[in-house]
Amino acid sequence: MSETTVAEDAKKPDSTILGTGHYLPSRVLSNADLEKMVDTSNEWIVERTGIRERRIAAADEAASDIASNAAIQALNMAEIDAKQLDLIIVATISPDMPLPATAMYVQQKIGARSYCPGFDLAAACAGFIYGLSVADSLIQANQAKYILVIGVELLSRILNYEDRATCVLFGDGGGAAVVGPSSGDGRGIISTHLYADGSQAKSLYIPAGGSRTPASEQTVRDKQHFVHMAGQDVFKFAVKSLSSAIQTAIRSSGLTPKDIDWVIPHQANIRIIDAVANRCNIPKERFYINIERVGNTSSASIPIALDEAVRNGLVRPGQNLLFCGLGAGITWGSALVRW
Ligand code: UT7
Repeated sequence: MSETTVAEDAKKPDSTILGTGHYLPSRVLSNADLEKMVDTSNEWIVERTGIRERRIAAADEAASDIASNAAIQALNMAEIDAKQLDLIIVATISPDMPLPATAMYVQQKIGARSYCPGFDLAAACAGFIYGLSVADSLIQANQAKYILVIGVELLSRILNYEDRATCVLFGDGGGAAVVGPSSGDGRGIISTHLYADGSQAKSLYIPAGGSRTPASEQTVRDKQHFVHMAGQDVFKFAVKSLSSAIQTAIRSSGLTPKDIDWVIPHQANIRIIDAVANRCNIPKERFYINIERVGNTSSASIPIALDEAVRNGLVRPGQNLLFCGLGAGITWGSALVRW
């Protein structure tokens, strides 16, 4: 496996997460609902994935609406006014529209200053970690003070609800974090490690609707605008790569698995989480898991899980948190944070 590592050594944190937030649409799509839509069963879905239900956005909700709801909560927790933001990063593969970036709509909805820069980041399930890494680097370089990093997805809009191999897995939602300067007490983002392997690009992709195969009546008829996935290939890649990423993150910071208080993993499949926990020698009880209720929300899954764990009081000051995620690209990565 070829690796590109952006932060190899442990460092004193320059940036820290000042506040988190999340938003889940109110409509629940249960496994029983899916049984009426495709040839599947609650037993299969629970046993093979760990998912019991997922949320589906309302017809009038778009990515920027869900993102802004999560962002406002994160800003409130951080006690930062939206006008203080220097950058808005929206990690998503289901933006409001191809052009302009969803970050532009978020800028307007949350009341950020009108010249606050922003962009969308398409790294799928690793998107939030990629965003966190960019934010950390810019703060470290004194290019920004406060950066809003959002992961948001309306995957229900890009799923084929006749394809049981994908439609049972994914859901909608958004999570956000305000990243700012560390106060120098050793708490903050200790390391981020980003990886990608483009040779695996077609194991999880949307074939049409871009410049390679623009939208046409035929592509719509052939359902080429929906997510296609070679599930088993991604599964195997995920177990191997996430385990390796976790081990690298721990080792490069001079820690051991025992030092990790919480792993906040991307929630793709409970069997992936089980296998990774085993390989990394970290008890499963130290993995925060909400896949049963939320399903796989790609870029949004880590920040949603993080905010739940923070608001539930599970995450406490001084604890070591390890985020890890892998998705289309294939992209993957880790972030080690001392809370
Ligand atoms: O977040 C982005 C990254 N994505 C992932 O990490 C996902 C990784 N992959 C997975 O989680 C799993 O591969 C899946 C959950 C997608 C599939 O589970 P699996 O155990 O790998 O199933 P499979 O693809 O090997 O299919 C086994 C059987 C097949 O039937 P046959 O050919 O054995 O008769 C499938 O057609 O299960 C069938 N199947 C289903 N049956 C009932 C596939 N989907 C369903 C379904 N309900 N929803």
